[in-house]
Amino acid sequence: MSSEMWDERYSASELVWSSTPNQQVAEFASTLSPGSALDFGGGEGRNALWLAEQGWDATVLDFSQVGLDRAQQLAGSRLTPAQQARFHTLRADAASDSVSPKTFDLVIVAYLQLAADERRSAMRTAASAVREDGYLFVIAHDSANLLAGYGGPQDPTVLYTAADLADDVSDSGLHVIRADAVERTVDVQGVDRTAIDALLIARRPPVV
Ligand SMILES: C[S@@+](CC[C@H](N)C(=O)[O-])C[C@H]1O[C@@H](n2cnc3c(N)ncnc32)[C@H](O)[C@@H]1O
Repeated sequence: MSSEMWDERYSASELVWSSTPNQQVAEFASTLSPGSALDFGGGEGRNALWLAEQGWDATVLDFSQVGLDRAQQLAGSRLTPAQQARFHTLRADAASDSVSPKTFDLVIVAYLQLAADERRSAMRTAASAVREDGYLFVIAHDSANLLAGYGGPQDPTVLYTAADLADDVSDSGLHVIRADAVERTVDVQGVDRTAIDALLIARRPPVV
């Protein structure tokens, strides 16, 4: 989907995604001391808003200006002045723009469903932004979801696996800590359904 299509999607409703963070993101970030975080393809900023509330300096990168405006609007109404001062948005294309290298303690990529070439480029850029002793955390709709899970895009070309992600970042200098499929329970009109996500956690080694 182009940035114009995402702008239209965000314009069409008040909040496209939930206002709460992804559970896996929240669980992982809670194990870290707050530092600087980049929410890469962060949309309306649900993860970055939560991170700012937890004491992080949080930046949402997205190519949809409407999504970023929504994130800033939510920050204005939800965050304290001190948290707002640590909340930033950045309009950029995850697949073709570069970001400042080795800058963030935590780079999150959540449900950025791109075709393989674009995904590989985006994951490499996301990995490049992780500073020494920092982490890359990726969660996405897994290819297996199509046959065995619930929801997510139904186009197989934008789905991928944790093994794909590990391969994407294999030359990035990051060490893969975890790369596997995880289940997520989704409430569909009162009925629990299971979605399958691809999860990658990788770390740039500290300088010794
Ligand atoms: C499914 S939404 C997920 C948003 C957010 N990560 C979350 O979990 O709530 C995908 C987001 O990726 C953004 N996106 C898609 N392709 C992009 C690209 N090439 N560059 C930057 N953002 C992109 C869209 O604008 C959208 O906000």
